[in-house]
Amino acid sequence: MQTAPAQTHGEAVKTTMQAFVLEGNDIGSLRLRTPDKPKLAAGEVLIRTKAISLNPIDIIAMQVEAVRNHLYGAPDGSDIILGWDVAGEVVATDPSVTKLKPGDRVFGCIKFPGKGKAYAEYVAAPNDQLALIPDGVTFESAAAAGLAAITAYEALVDSGKLSKDDKVLIHGAAGGVGHFAVQIAKSFGAYVIGTASAGNLDFVKSMGADEVIDYQKQKFEDVVRDADLVLDSLGEENLLRSIDAVKEGGRVVSLKGGFEGEVDKKAKAKGVTGIRFGVHSNGADQQKIADLLASGKLVSAIYKIWPFEDLPKACEALAKVGYGKVVVKVD
Ligand SMILES: NC(=O)c1ccc[n+]([C@@H]2O[C@H](COP(=O)([O-])OP(=O)(O)OC[C@H]3O[C@@H](n4cnc5c(N)ncnc54)[C@H](OP(=O)(O)O)[C@@H]3O)[C@@H](O)[C@H]2O)c1
Repeated sequence: MQTAPAQTHGEAVKTTMQAFVLEGNDIGSLRLRTPDKPKLAAGEVLIRTKAISLNPIDIIAMQVEAVRNHLYGAPDGSDIILGWDVAGEVVATDPSVTKLKPGDRVFGCIKFPGKGKAYAEYVAAPNDQLALIPDGVTFESAAAAGLAAITAYEALVDSGKLSKDDKVLIHGAAGGVGHFAVQIAKSFGAYVIGTASAGNLDFVKSMGADEVIDYQKQKFEDVVRDADLVLDSLGEENLLRSIDAVKEGGRVVSLKGGFEGEVDKKAKAKGVTGIRFGVHSNGADQQKIADLLASGKLVSAIYKIWPFEDLPKACEALAKVGYGKVVVKVD
């Protein structure tokens, strides 16, 4: 049921907002437009956006029609506003919402997989996909700790059954997911090895990794052969080789590839549990991320912050980023 938001602080005066609308199949077809503010469904709150973070899936959804249709449904003529990670202030709530109120500072990964619509000044978000931003954490840091952070948490802890005695190999350890994964694994007390390119090795160590491997200089499976758990974010050959790095009976969680054909055969022969992971928005896990941010055990490494009007430039930069997260600030 659609209900009109109970607008506060003069929000009712303005019925439109600024948002980046996708009008083609690439970053160059993002256009700053003024669509209507979102209407709230049952259980939703209206967030005035303060910061957004970007993920590789944003670009894939722009460029690959099948992925976009999977996430946003077949084209129906309505505006396509991409984006899933948002941090901001609650300005209105559906009457059924009791947990959050106007003025609350919130963050989360909204409606993934689905229509997140985060590239906008206002975002409608299910209250149970959000967490309060801990004191002392900026909107930018909170926005950064959305999809990538819950991916790292769910892949390691829920799927990977991470425990304190584990030796964990994390691929792409400098990236959005990887740098959170290193910190989360360390917060559980695990021994952590991260792979990265030469320029990012010190960064990965600064996130707490016990060992780092320059994947361009060394084969990771020559260095590690007894991991309890591997987090793969590359798929294909990297996934196949990851089975050599894990011990018999260990676990490999992949963000990119399935356990089929040769990979499946190799995993089974070694008694390795292979899990293909796909992230879903989840307020309980977002709250765990909030708790880790509050405790200081997790920090968002932000590569660069772009102003809202430069969101397309931030998208362009995403593929070339050195480490951590790309964030857009909304004033
Ligand atoms: N299945 C899911 O639910 C899910 C969720 C989130 C993300 N993902 C996917 O997971 C991947 C990582 O996401 P992300 O947000 O972390 O992306 P990201 O921020 O772009 O990071 C990717 C990292 O991979 C590193 N890298 C590139 N080639 C490598 C190699 N051969 N070995 C080791 N590291 C390598 C890069 O670091 P260097 O510069 O050091 O090379 C880069 O920092 C993406 O493909 C994304 O689509 C899947």
